Amino acid sequence: PSSAPLDLVIFGGVGDLSVRKLLPALYMAHLHNNLPAATRIHALGRQTWDRKGFLAFIGEKVPGFIEQKHFDDGVWAGFLDRLQFTSVDATKAEDFAALAAAMQPGSDRVYYLATAPSLFVGICANLHGAGLIDERARVVLEKPLGHDLASARQINDDVGRYFQEQQIFRIDHYLGKETVQNLMVLRFGNSIFEPLWRSPYIKSVQITVAESVGVGSRAGFYDGTGAMRDMIQNHLLQLLCIVAMEPPVSLDPDAVRDEKLKVLRSLRPMTVADVAKDTVRGQYTAGASNGEAALGYLQEANIPADSTTETFVALKAHINNWRWANVPIFLRTGKRMAARQSEIVIEFADLPFTIFSDSAHRSVNRLMIRLQPEEHIQLQMMAKEPGSGMKLRPVSLNLDLESAFTERRAEAYERLLIDVTKGRLTHFMRRDELEAAWAWVEPIIDGWQQLGEKPKAYTAGSWGPAASSALMAREGSAWVEEA
Ligand code: BG6
Repeated sequence: PSSAPLDLVIFGGVGDLSVRKLLPALYMAHLHNNLPAATRIHALGRQTWDRKGFLAFIGEKVPGFIEQKHFDDGVWAGFLDRLQFTSVDATKAEDFAALAAAMQPGSDRVYYLATAPSLFVGICANLHGAGLIDERARVVLEKPLGHDLASARQINDDVGRYFQEQQIFRIDHYLGKETVQNLMVLRFGNSIFEPLWRSPYIKSVQITVAESVGVGSRAGFYDGTGAMRDMIQNHLLQLLCIVAMEPPVSLDPDAVRDEKLKVLRSLRPMTVADVAKDTVRGQYTAGASNGEAALGYLQEANIPADSTTETFVALKAHINNWRWANVPIFLRTGKRMAARQSEIVIEFADLPFTIFSDSAHRSVNRLMIRLQPEEHIQLQMMAKEPGSGMKLRPVSLNLDLESAFTERRAEAYERLLIDVTKGRLTHFMRRDELEAAWAWVEPIIDGWQQLGEKPKAYTAGSWGPAASSALMAREGSAWVEEA
């Protein structure tokens, strides 16, 4: 590890992501002494603030996103000492001289591009022009990383002209979640699951990332994006990779990413007929969320009244390899669903034969890994109901990870930002992974277009369109909360 000073530069430094996630995460890293001693954080924006104006903005916006119990006036003052604002229009080469002047001599440089991807290439060219990229420099790319395969490739090509692959940190914040990292430990730090972690012992896999929030204030972005690009292409496929990959030979970034890439490349491509049969698009209509009336998507501010953007996707995927042959993989995500709940459910095979005449022939053996809102792992098994006769009932072994550990659990962005400062790439996407994910997703989006598929209505506060349950029922399964 380098003992050089660190200059961390955030393009879009006073934007939404920076205010809500990055600066609060950096405050936490500062509080826990996880930043190199000489760290300077440069927030960049087009404003013409002096230091006073900048600090007033930060002081008003950022503390609200830091948990009260971690906020300390003295620590905050120390954090502000590290912060600096530089007025830079990312498209103007001449503005980069001011940035160069603000850097510490001999520092390690991290450039966090929290801007629209259309600005990436200009930023990189201007950094290069100002002599700000050396072989130690790192760049962090924030999503959306492309709208389709071609645009993802373009971003990779553009940035790749100025940075080597091992200098590029593509963020998927799901990879920074404690619970997601713990999945690796569940699979590869325990011996009991691995022998069963395959066809035919696993009957199906479900991955749900349900949100109760609606589109919120992001109409402009979201309506041009939709749930497939916003969630499935990145977060859900990354979760799937960790669930489905072969054991990597080590935790080296490329060892892990090679295995994830193999999963993405093994996803069975969907034909238009598959898209018609195995995918469900939904859009929420007026209903209720958390006990309050909720607007329908088409009534939300700044959403066109005839929008056909999907706010929900459910689909059935297959992985063409030995481990997963014939195991349906169900993915589902949506906004304005009944609850905020992210969960992976591994459903084990039915009994080949049952000797218990008054019980259902199916056993309920499921491993349920809840990622959000709380972290717990549940193993459902059958037990005998007390009393005469042999009646079976499902019961659970429960592991509540939040009470098992008393240590503080850091937010995803905090953990990932520390990884960037230390140059650890394991939890970031490699170029080929990003492109393989798009290569699988794009034909589905094209298929919807060819089919003229309009999203199916679902009531805000429900679990999605009826077709989503039907998709499962066809395979003899059910989404867990409907079982
Ligand atoms: C983001 C999406 O990447 O992830 C948002 O753009 C979504 O639409 C968010 O709300 C969900 O993240 P989390 O951490 O709240 O589950």
